[in-house]
Amino acid sequence: GRANDLGIPGVPMTRTRFLGTGIALPERVVTNDDLSQLMDTSDEWIKTRTGIRERRWVVPGETGTGLALKATRSALDIAGLGADDLDAIVYATSTPDHSAPGNGVYLQHLLGAGPIPALDIRTQCSGFVYALSVADGWIRSGLFRRVLVVGAEIQSTALDVSTAGRDTAVIFADGAGAVVLGPTDDDAGILAFDLHGDGAYAEKLWVDAPGSMHHPRMSHGQIDAGRHFLRMDGKEVFRHAVVRMPESVRAVLGKTGHTPADLKLLIAHQANLRIAEVIQRSLELRDDQVYNNIMWYGNTTAATIPIALDECVRAGRLARGDLIALTAFGSGFLWRSAALRW
Ligand code: UT7
Repeated sequence: GRANDLGIPGVPMTRTRFLGTGIALPERVVTNDDLSQLMDTSDEWIKTRTGIRERRWVVPGETGTGLALKATRSALDIAGLGADDLDAIVYATSTPDHSAPGNGVYLQHLLGAGPIPALDIRTQCSGFVYALSVADGWIRSGLFRRVLVVGAEIQSTALDVSTAGRDTAVIFADGAGAVVLGPTDDDAGILAFDLHGDGAYAEKLWVDAPGSMHHPRMSHGQIDAGRHFLRMDGKEVFRHAVVRMPESVRAVLGKTGHTPADLKLLIAHQANLRIAEVIQRSLELRDDQVYNNIMWYGNTTAATIPIALDECVRAGRLARGDLIALTAFGSGFLWRSAALRW
């Protein structure tokens, strides 16, 4: 045995390992040229400012839980487990199918899992890393063994696709990623988290309505004023994101006695390719130490990290024992990172 987190010698330490990953994306591809038909924008502007070439948007009938189901089945396959083997679900989304209840229970039902607990996490872009930290706590405490963590988002139905909403409409998109987690006593697994928030910036990236502070909660007036659309102060988000993510990656690696140079791979939230490039430079990482796919999927909020992770796994970029960092920044503002050994 090894010292555990409390430093008690001889007590074996349980860590949380990734047992399987899966993703699901809507079939419908929306190109920058497609968007130029709807609003005053161009392929050139979108590519230069964001790096995005195309993204996936759902068609009516496709749902967040539907995508999450597909991603989960794929993750369970890789893990060699069935829905019956799951003990709990943590579902990160800022765009649930309905206002209440959250998506976790819908997914539990679609999966045909037993009557297991399901918790929705609403921390937007950083939802997946936050959900991981909750699942990790549950597993390490022994409360649950096998936990499904989902990051899934349908942003397209919250976007103003006219010229007035072009700053957000060209960025945000739909998709789902799922991971199955379980306990391990070996050297692999999640090593540390770094979690922060600052509500002073809550309205720099938000959806105002519907909301319980409004009387009534939902009205024609709100809709006429477009208060149900995602609103963002892009410059402010950008300015904070490029500082907070590198700072948080250094902090989480510091907790494990490592530096960015030791990383096999950094997966940063895919908010904007320019942001990812600043993070890479700031941490002095080589191209082979980072992974970006925003070109093809846009910003899928809580889904960007699990989608990228799954693609790296399937491309054979991760070997047992590799040091990996995940980092996210977004609405809240909330920012967080994780360090793990694959
Ligand atoms: O998950 C976290 C969420 N979000 C982010 O991380 C986003 C962070 N921010 C950004 O990515 C960038 O701020 C944006 C890509 C959103 C915007 O880029 P920017 O370089 O900050 O542009 P800007 O907002 O200063 O706008 C420059 C110009 C403006 O026109 P004027 O005022 O200079 O005439 C905008 O109206 O570009 C215009 N513009 C557009 N033009 C064509 C804004 N959106 C578009 C568009 N197409 N889609």
